[in-house]
Amino acid sequence: MIDTKTLSKNKREKIKKQLDHNYIPCLAVILVGENPASLSYVKGKEKACREVGISTITITLEDRITQEELIKLIDELNIDNSVDGILVQLPLPSHIDEFAVINAIDPSKDVDGFHPSNVAALYLKQKGIIPCTPKGIIDVLDFAGVEIEGKYAVVIGRSNIVGMPISKLLLDRNATVTICHSKTKNLSDITSKADILIAAVGKPLFVTADMVKEGAVVIDVGVNRGENGKLCGDVDFENVKEKTSYITKVPGGIGPMTITCLLENTVECFMNRKVLSNG
Ligand code: GUN
Repeated sequence: MIDTKTLSKNKREKIKKQLDHNYIPCLAVILVGENPASLSYVKGKEKACREVGISTITITLEDRITQEELIKLIDELNIDNSVDGILVQLPLPSHIDEFAVINAIDPSKDVDGFHPSNVAALYLKQKGIIPCTPKGIIDVLDFAGVEIEGKYAVVIGRSNIVGMPISKLLLDRNATVTICHSKTKNLSDITSKADILIAAVGKPLFVTADMVKEGAVVIDVGVNRGENGKLCGDVDFENVKEKTSYITKVPGGIGPMTITCLLENTVECFMNRKVLSNG
């Protein structure tokens, strides 16, 4: 099992030292509605920020807020010089167009890397903010010493948050990448050839032992509630782990790394803005 806890801890200590009370970046977090999972994610993000010396402003809005009101708030945060990063927790209520909201965020404050400018930068190999979870996955693979170049990587899931960007990052590291999704035929024929298997499906225990190659590296990005109400990943960990050379567990694997990368992205936005304001 990859010790992502130590990696996360080391990275957070490094950020704390780097900031060292001299620099205090400010992250604005917007939470719309009362989705319990979102509330818990936001609390985790606030706590992690506090621990490394990043200040946070959390703005909690009622479910029935209009898209225009939400965008107006983002416009205000965009021009507020004391705010370095803006994060809108997803998902948003169905009457709000998520893309319109993401488009409204100043790309230089887009700590999630979801704005089209940052997405384009990733696909064109230009400088930009890289989404937190995919960035965390690459860090975890590097930390474990997994060679990516020349390997066959299979990604299950094609979301904008994980599946698509992690596929691009793996490709940039010279892996051969296949993206699978809900319409993929003979899924286990494909996954069972993978040297590196990334599960980002959102279905509890979706990846079973027969779908995994002996000695594969398996990264579980799923965060699901199992039948017993407990948090579980996309991978049937207990049975799959025997076959793998490296595996991550849920909870505890990729989740904390996502938050660590959010801290790094917030510092990056802050530093970029400082350089800009110094001329
Ligand atoms: N909802 C689930 N994952 C994420 C994430 O990485 N960022 C935001 N803003 N919302 C999410």
